[in-house]
Amino acid sequence: MRLTNKVALITGGAGGIGLATARLFLAEGAKGVAIVDFSEENLKLAEESLGREKVLYIRADVSHAGEVQKYTKQVKEKYGRIDVLFLNAGTEGVVKPMEDYPEETFDQVMGVNVKGVWLGMKYAFPIMKADGGGSVIITSSVAGLRGTAQVSAYVGSKHATIGLMRVGALEGAPGNIRVNSIHPSPVDNRMMRSLEDGFAPGQGESVKENFTKMIPLGRYASNEDIADLALFLASEQSKFITGATYVIDGGFTV
Ligand SMILES: NC(=O)c1ccc[n+]([C@@H]2O[C@H](COP(=O)([O-])OP(=O)(O)OC[C@H]3O[C@@H](n4cnc5c(N)ncnc54)[C@H](O)[C@@H]3O)[C@@H](O)[C@H]2O)c1
Repeated sequence: MRLTNKVALITGGAGGIGLATARLFLAEGAKGVAIVDFSEENLKLAEESLGREKVLYIRADVSHAGEVQKYTKQVKEKYGRIDVLFLNAGTEGVVKPMEDYPEETFDQVMGVNVKGVWLGMKYAFPIMKADGGGSVIITSSVAGLRGTAQVSAYVGSKHATIGLMRVGALEGAPGNIRVNSIHPSPVDNRMMRSLEDGFAPGQGESVKENFTKMIPLGRYASNEDIADLALFLASEQSKFITGATYVIDGGFTV
């Protein structure tokens, strides 16, 4: 039991990685897990599958300051503290070269993937500091470490989260808040189905085959693979780690 009595808040908590992580955190003894997501329908399904007892679900848009203030406050009111903040909500945008990429989609991707992370730290830090600190985990991507044509907003946003993570690590350290980022390669879930279809409409399977060939361990990550890394960074086992970028990619970027 690596999270006994800990309180975790997971954004994108109704999605593939977020839900798998919520499940693992509860199995590891968390006192409460708050899942924040945009999709009410998926939140209800997530709550059903996790059980209501130790789960608080909150519908919020992570890119709006007022909603971030609301979700951090609600978790504090319900559980008294926030020990683990998993800033994981993300959106992929569309697959198009920059010259055709819609400006409003660019703004939306930046709003969720970058501003959402900034707002999360901005409003959770005071709560976490007051209660002795904790661990912040930011879901970036291998797209935060290298370029991929046709996904400029996503790639730009995931690079930007590394900068926010580093500043968060420096500003959080005096309050005993650790901040790290994780960088998955393709994960076998909804977001990759959407991107595969974007790269080759109607031929997603062949895109998946091509990506898989580029991964030395020969497969996509599972949501649970990523949850295992989040657990390590959430737990006391990583107590001297902050400001680090954790690649989890089966060798994809080697
Ligand atoms: N799937 C992959 O291959 C992959 C690879 C690397 C990194 N990531 C990152 O992992 C994170 C989790 O994604 P996932 O793979 O579980 O995909 P997902 O689409 O299943 O989950 C993303 C969740 O974020 C939520 N979300 C989107 N916009 C939001 C907003 N404005 N406010 C609140 N919630 C919002 C969605 O409703 C969804 O539940 C994302 O940051 C994503 O960029 C995914």
